[in-house]
Amino acid sequence: MEYKQGVELVHPKCKPKIIIEKKPTKKVDIIQKTFDEWAQNGRAELMEREHGKNVSKFLDKVCFEKPFSFLDVGCGNGWVVQKIAKNPKCKKAVGIDKSKKMIIQAKKIKKNSNEEYIHTDLESLKNVGKFDYVFSMESLYYVSSVKAALKKIFKLLNPGGQFFCGTDFYRDNKATAKWSKIMNMQMHLLSKKEWRDFFVETGFETKTKQIKDLKNKRKWKREFGTLFIIGKKPK
Ligand SMILES: C[S@@+](CC[C@H](N)C(=O)[O-])C[C@H]1O[C@@H](n2cnc3c(N)ncnc32)[C@H](O)[C@@H]1O
Repeated sequence: MEYKQGVELVHPKCKPKIIIEKKPTKKVDIIQKTFDEWAQNGRAELMEREHGKNVSKFLDKVCFEKPFSFLDVGCGNGWVVQKIAKNPKCKKAVGIDKSKKMIIQAKKIKKNSNEEYIHTDLESLKNVGKFDYVFSMESLYYVSSVKAALKKIFKLLNPGGQFFCGTDFYRDNKATAKWSKIMNMQMHLLSKKEWRDFFVETGFETKTKQIKDLKNKRKWKREFGTLFIIGKKPK
């Protein structure tokens, strides 16, 4: 709430009264604010380096057989969209992000004509059509409701389409549990089983995969690594 000071007009014989007028303003979204800052202080590129190895290990094993469309939810500076758009079978690769500054960066470094970026959160996304693949790395646990987000992603997929959800922040990976305190914002900390249950409940045929980085100096990267929950929408 922003407050505006003013002087109330009263009878000239009376002393004017100072009044405080309440003027409602837009609430600042802490997630958007944080990632806008990250887009400007080099952390978008840092995330690309931090997540790149495991994401590539995972995506390089996906067999994109037919021409396909791809959506990245919480795309950051768009590095995954760029990677996928290079695949000759990719008809269109769309990245969405809640942070306007991330989207500005992604548009700046855009290389392929089949790449598209939209500044929106998943919750308000509309009129984008359906996709063969939806991807999300380290983004889905920031949504207000995981259940609602999964329902939305399910609807965004074509029958037979797949959702790849990558997360380093999960309960089994104990070393990452402190992240929400450090970030000081709502982050859904779910276990591998809870993620799986949410996917199954949504209607996905579900599998999980942990991609470890055995040479990494951080113990959690060697022992737990990135959890991918893979959901297939039945045909
Ligand atoms: C930790 S970053 C990961 C970025 C990118 N996926 C990567 O791996 O480098 C999380 C991103 O998700 C975005 N985000 C958070 N909540 C979102 C939502 N509800 N809809 C869309 N984007 C969201 C943030 O703005 C941020 O850019």
